[in-house]
Amino acid sequence: MLLAFETSCDETSVAVVHRGRVLSALVSSQIRLHAEYGGVVPELATREHLRNLLPLAREALRLANVEPGRLDAVAATQGPGLPAALMVGLNAAQAVAFVLQRPFVGVHHHEAHLYSPWIGGEPAQAQFDEFRPHVSLIVSGGHTLLVHVVAEGQHRVLGGTVDDAAGECFDKTAKLIGLAYPGGPLIDRVAEGGNPAAFDFPRPLINDRGDDFSFSGLKTSVRYFLRDRPKLLDDPRSLSDLCASVQAAIVDVLVTKSLRAARREGVSCLTAAGGVVCNRALRRELTAAGERLGIAVRLALPGFCQDNAAMVGILAERRLDQGAPASLPDAEIRPGWPLEDASPVTR
Ligand code: KG4
Ligand code: ZN
Repeated sequence: MLLAFETSCDETSVAVVHRGRVLSALVSSQIRLHAEYGGVVPELATREHLRNLLPLAREALRLANVEPGRLDAVAATQGPGLPAALMVGLNAAQAVAFVLQRPFVGVHHHEAHLYSPWIGGEPAQAQFDEFRPHVSLIVSGGHTLLVHVVAEGQHRVLGGTVDDAAGECFDKTAKLIGLAYPGGPLIDRVAEGGNPAAFDFPRPLINDRGDDFSFSGLKTSVRYFLRDRPKLLDDPRSLSDLCASVQAAIVDVLVTKSLRAARREGVSCLTAAGGVVCNRALRRELTAAGERLGIAVRLALPGFCQDNAAMVGILAERRLDQGAPASLPDAEIRPGWPLEDASPVTR
């Protein structure tokens, strides 16, 4: 029985997992709090984590029907993330582990995202029997990563963004269009029924052989596009076409580059996770392209795409089961932790 905390950015989340099963998983999103500032304010995020973490933990244990004394281990995201936000979850987990005299496990946030597509079923459970070498696309407001997962615990980062993350591109273009923060889900909704071929936006680095991404140019081209058509936003039909066209450009880049990387690395599976994977066009296009190319596409369930403690718990429990040592009980946060350095499996 393992209790897990995730507080690396603007989601406070607690989960209880046992033998690969998610017994309870709660997320308290701070989106409304940060909306008026147009982005995450670290100090506010930290205060919210402090306010919400323990009530959420109490509720997660109640839903899982688990007394604290039955916990075998406690885990938290150790990095990367906002330093003060990370400290809240890490320190709380270490304190619980200390009082219960149980191991504490510090988890790499991106490695946890790599595990979320393997959580499936109802009730949710890790499907490790289906695990195989794959390429993973992790796309959110803070990160855009392509990772080759050679084996569990062995990753090679193939590429990342050289400027804005994909979610950031959604959010910044949404702002230009006059939509609220975070704009990704709103673009997704307004794009519905719009014509994705109505306007032609650049697909940065799509033909580049490397695995890096760049999204800031796309945002700039939307700015110039709107400057030259000041009346366009007044027409709902054009607004819908614009959202569909911007979304198509982002999705096209993500789908083309991730499947190209999967083929080049010779893997038969592509996974995807992170907030942007909630995007319906991205889910549709990744699945369709995978079918065309004979590559199995595994997408995190929408409930596990965004930052959540279930993925932290599943990974931490897996590592303990595989014989990896627990983290030091007083391990410190690692805000800039590179994925390549994360928990090598020891068998
Ligand atoms: O993983 P996440 O909750 O947090 C981090 O940023 O780490 O991802 C949030 C991001 C935001 O940029 C948000 O706009 C984007 O995910 N997002 C979406 C959708 N849902 C969330 N982007 C496009 N379409 C969506 N449906
Ligand atoms: Zn994340």
